[in-house]
Amino acid sequence: MIIAIDGPAAAGKGTLAKRIAATLQLPYLDTGILYRATAKRVLEAGGNPEDVSTALTAAQSLSAADLARNDLRDAATSKAASQVASIAAVRQALLDFQRHFGTAHGAVLDGRDIGTIIFPQADIKLFVTASVEARAQRRYQEFCARGETVALAEVIADVQARDEADRTRTAAPLMMARDATLIDTTDMDADTAFACALALIHGKTT
Ligand code: DC
Repeated sequence: MIIAIDGPAAAGKGTLAKRIAATLQLPYLDTGILYRATAKRVLEAGGNPEDVSTALTAAQSLSAADLARNDLRDAATSKAASQVASIAAVRQALLDFQRHFGTAHGAVLDGRDIGTIIFPQADIKLFVTASVEARAQRRYQEFCARGETVALAEVIADVQARDEADRTRTAAPLMMARDATLIDTTDMDADTAFACALALIHGKTT
């Protein structure tokens, strides 16, 4: 079974996807990590994340260790991840990995283009979103929990800028698949979103 969970930044996709994967005993892939790890490689080499050949080389040389890093969520890496993710050649280079991951044993994958490009035939497609304010507030709390100092206004501006970049890029823009089900988590806590998603999955698979 392939479960595709797409949506904008900080909508609660990751928390939801991990919980669904654990409950259904399926492997889980956070596909944003692929773009973040690519961006980190570029930044650490002093390169420009908007340069196609630099970003492509980084994407092609990703290792398991790159994906396992726990320093991929800072603001600079987030911005650069959005930049490398807008490059069609980078997306193409990361496509096979995602498809192989999913087809080996089934999987839950979260990202921006899972239900539209990576697995258009996914068994279940969820599009998880929330208001910009709710998403920025969650991201802000994540930064605070990690001890990083950042202004809420800056986080709101960053979320808005990334939404805009992810939605308007020409390569695999963020969009809801026509056959996806929308879950708006603005007024939901994680437990409610999980219960809602699980009910949808059971409804479609039984
Ligand atoms: O989900 P995230 O915030 O970790 O994603 C990091 C960046 O990668 C974000 O700008 C969107 C992009 N991304 C993408 O374009 N396609 C995906 N399948 C996953 C993430």
